[in-house]
Parts: sequence; C-alpha cells; structure tokens
Amino acid sequence: MGFEPFGSVLTYSCHKKPGPTLSDMAVEQPPNSVDAGFYLPADAFFTAHSSLALTYDDVTLATLYSEILPRDTQLDTRLAEGLNLNIPIISADMDTVTESRMAIAMALNGGLGLIHYNMAEKQQLSELSRVKNHVHGLIQDPIKVAPEQLIGEVLGMMEKRKFAFSTFPVVDADGRLVGLLSGHVVKPRYAPRPVSEALTPRNQVHTIKQKELGANPIARADKFFTDHPGIHKLLVVDEEDRLRGLFTMSDVERITQERNAQFKPARDARFRLVCGPAVSATRNAFGDLDRERILDHVGALVERGVDAVAVSTAHGFSKGVGETVRMLRDAFPPLPLIAGNVTSSAGVEYLSDCGANAVKVGQGPGSICTTRIVAGVGIPQLTALYVCSRAARQKPVSIIADGGITKSGDIVKALTLAQAVICGGLFAGCPEAPGQMMEIGGKLYRQYRGMGSFAAMKAGSAARYGHSPNLTQKVAPEGVEALKEVSPSLDLVLAQLIGGIQSGMGYLGAANLDQLRDRARYIRVSPAGMREAAPHDVVEVKTGS
Ligand code: XMP
Repeated sequence: MGFEPFGSVLTYSCHKKPGPTLSDMAVEQPPNSVDAGFYLPADAFFTAHSSLALTYDDVTLATLYSEILPRDTQLDTRLAEGLNLNIPIISADMDTVTESRMAIAMALNGGLGLIHYNMAEKQQLSELSRVKNHVHGLIQDPIKVAPEQLIGEVLGMMEKRKFAFSTFPVVDADGRLVGLLSGHVVKPRYAPRPVSEALTPRNQVHTIKQKELGANPIARADKFFTDHPGIHKLLVVDEEDRLRGLFTMSDVERITQERNAQFKPARDARFRLVCGPAVSATRNAFGDLDRERILDHVGALVERGVDAVAVSTAHGFSKGVGETVRMLRDAFPPLPLIAGNVTSSAGVEYLSDCGANAVKVGQGPGSICTTRIVAGVGIPQLTALYVCSRAARQKPVSIIADGGITKSGDIVKALTLAQAVICGGLFAGCPEAPGQMMEIGGKLYRQYRGMGSFAAMKAGSAARYGHSPNLTQKVAPEGVEALKEVSPSLDLVLAQLIGGIQSGMGYLGAANLDQLRDRARYIRVSPAGMREAAPHDVVEVKTGS
C-alpha cells in the first residue's frame, strides 16, 4: 500500500477472509503475537507505568487492521441520559472562550458550549436564551417592536442586545400584528422617525395561520418560500391576528440542509440547540454554600430549557462541590449534571455518588494553567484520564477530558479513555470567542486568560479556585493572561479536528467511539520519537491545508 492520505480510498478490503472477522482478531491479539508484547491495552499499559504520570505526547497509539474509512466513522457520544452530542467536543466555560456566539457555533457543529459564569446571573440567562432561540425553525417568541417606537430606539436595542438581525414584526399593545419593520429601514438616517412611518403595512406582510402549519411546519414554510421568490420572512398568526411566530428562509434552509450533513447540530427534543452553562459552588457572606441563590439560578436556567449544568471548579473532590451537585440532583432530578474537576478515581466516585452524570477530568493541563507550578498539584492528563476511567467503568458516569489539548491527535488519545473533550485554547482565537482582539506588530491576536488568573478571578471566578470575591495580594493566581493568534472560524477549526479524529479512528479500525476505546493500544514515546513525529529536517513552507 502506498502513502496515500488516509482520507482517500484505501485498499484494506483486499485482506478480507471468511471465518472470524479480522477486526475481532485484531482486537484479541493472540498472546504470542509480537505486537501484543509491545502495544498494550489501557489496563496493562497504565498499570505498567503506574509510577510515572504521562500525558498526550508521552504516548502514541498503535495502528490495527482496519476495514473502516475515516469518512464513515461515527463521532456521536452520550454524556448523560438526555445529553447526546454528535461530536465529542465541548468548548470551555471560560470568559475568553464561551458565550452565546461560541455556544451556538459549537452546537451547530454537533458539540456543546459551556457558557462561563464570570457574568451576572441575569446575563447568563440571556446568553442561554440566545442559544436556545437560535434557529429552531419556528421562532416562537420573536423580538417585536411597537409602532410608536423610534427607529433610533430599535437601533439602540440591537446594539445593546447584540442582535445579528434587523427585521422585526411590529405589534400593537394587544400583540396584534401591525406590520413588519424591514432591515432596509433600520438605519441611522431614519433614527428620528417612528416605526409606524417606516413599516411594511399589515396587508403587505406574508402570514400563515397557526392552525395551517400542520404536522411538518418546516416543510410547510419551505414550500412557502419556494412559492414566493424574494420573500424571506413568514409570520405566524392566530385567529385574532396575534403574532405567534416567525420563520426565516435562512433558518428553514439551514434545517433542510442539515438533514444531509454527516455531523448534525446538537439539538434538544424541541429542535433547539443544546447549551450547558457553568455554575460555581457560590458561598454567602458567612462562607456557607448559598443554596437559595444556586437553586434560584439553576431553576431559571431550567425554565429556559437548559440541557446540562456544569458545576465547574478547580477542585471538584470537595465538600462544597459535592453538596452543590447533591442539592441540584435532588431539586432537578432529570437535569444532566457535569461536575469537576478531579484527577482521581475517588473523585469520580464521589461526584457520581453525589449525582453527577459526567465528570470533568483535568487539574493543571490547560494551556493557561499554572496550578501545578503554584500549588504543586495536578496530574499529567493521560494518566489522570486512565485513573478516572477506572472509576467510571463501575459507576453510571461519563468522563470528559478537560484541558491540555493542542492538536487533533491529543483528542484521539483522550477519547480512548473519555467520552468527550473540553478545549479552551484551541478555540480562543476564533471569531466566535468573546476575547478582545488586538494588533501587535501587524499581527492580530485575541485575549485568552485562565479563569484562575488574577484578572479573571477579579471579574468573578474567584470561587472556582476557593477564594472569596474580594481578592487580596495574598491570593496566588493559578492561571495566566495570554494571547492567541486569531484563527479561522470555529467551523474550520472543528472541521480540521474532526478530520483528525476520523483519521485516528480509521487507523485503529474503529467505526465509533466505543470501538476506539476498546481497540486502543499504547506505547511510550522517547524524546527522539516525539521529534520524529513532527515535521523535521525540512524547510516548511505550508502547514496544514
Ligand atoms: P486548554 O489547554 O484547552 O485548557 O487551554 C482549558 C481548560 O483549562 C482549565 N483552566 C484553568 N486551569 N488555571 C488552571 O489551572 C486557570 O486559570 C484555568 N483556566 C481554565 C479549564 O479546565 C479549561 O477548560
């Protein structure tokens, strides 16, 4: 076989023989196999290295006989009952990584965004609503304007609430449709005019009665847009002409197209994008867990359709986090709960017993983390994942590899032990990240900071690191403030990562993530082996695609 890129058609099928499938044989290597003496499954490998903490670059995965083409691999993963993703990738709950824009882009690609909590609770609620209201076919509660409002006020509202659209239904005080304010007139030059002077009047606005939508509203709307060239909005009204919803052609087209996509957006049962805000184990002025505040906030998140809540702290194997998880489990029995972070088997057991469905694993691997340097604790990530995966086998809990991922190969290695990964640094340069952009020496960068950095803790994340919100100079930050070079859109970054994961799975003959975990065989890499793995002895002129 030549050195064809792995994404192209491979010649593996010529090895097919009748009898026991070759993939079975590859997994159950005969005991005398030379390979079996070198390339060990997880239990044998990590036990043999139990006195040495390993991370991604310390190991490599052995290839196995494969009948699987990368493009045919499935990446769906289940983190909890009711929390299924179409790709096993989550964006970090960091204030320079995930707000609604990133969460929307993550969910549209089949993953999940964890909205950070360095913001007022009210703001986190509206960030969640932005995700839940994004493209789900029929927008049931569209943003409306009143006829007497000024265009200038509408512009102000768009600016304040960061709306990316500019066409609004106009309704009277009883909610009855008066017209449509088109984006063409929502311009500063018309600012002093009232909406009533600029709107398209009711008799020229295309509407459909709620009861005419039938069993397949998207198909109905799709047909309407085909039948009415140039019309991009369809309003839904009830018998009294009250506004009940809005279809936009771009939403309907996207939904129609996504039926054919390999990795579909991650949506809830009501076709809304999934989203999982993070919360902390907030304490009151007396240092006790602020139960009422946490319950009120999570209750409000649940009302807005949250898909999971992540109790996110630096030390999850702790009383405060355990109590918070237990309290949320009791109050919201079906709500998928993610909790962390831990690096021990006992930590996974504890959080699972408290009611967590998924546990975040990682202490100190993050690109902006200094926990290991400052506190002298934390475990290199691959060993931590293995140790935690041992507990997860015995409990109804999944594990998520959080931090330290710098390339798609790391994700493949992480997924041999975990059900999903969390990335911060890899996404912080994307346009969807909220970090400030700056130009230095003609190059564009985006701010990326650890949630344990002094600046981020001052902005609200001190509780995550067990500090009170009134930081003093005695508090040692556990993260740095940094910059990332701006990167292309999240879609492109994820496409490269997904391509890498699929290649890895193809090399291991794994059709899905369960098979990847079963088939992984590890071996340590020497520093020279590591050097050999990267481009070397060439003058590189182009990296990647
Ligand atoms: P990456 O490597 O993807 O890591 O940039 C993101 C993860 O790092 C964790 N995190 C921190 N850990 N100090 C730490 O020790 C910090 O200031 C800090 N901020 C974030 C977090 O788990 C995140 O998902």
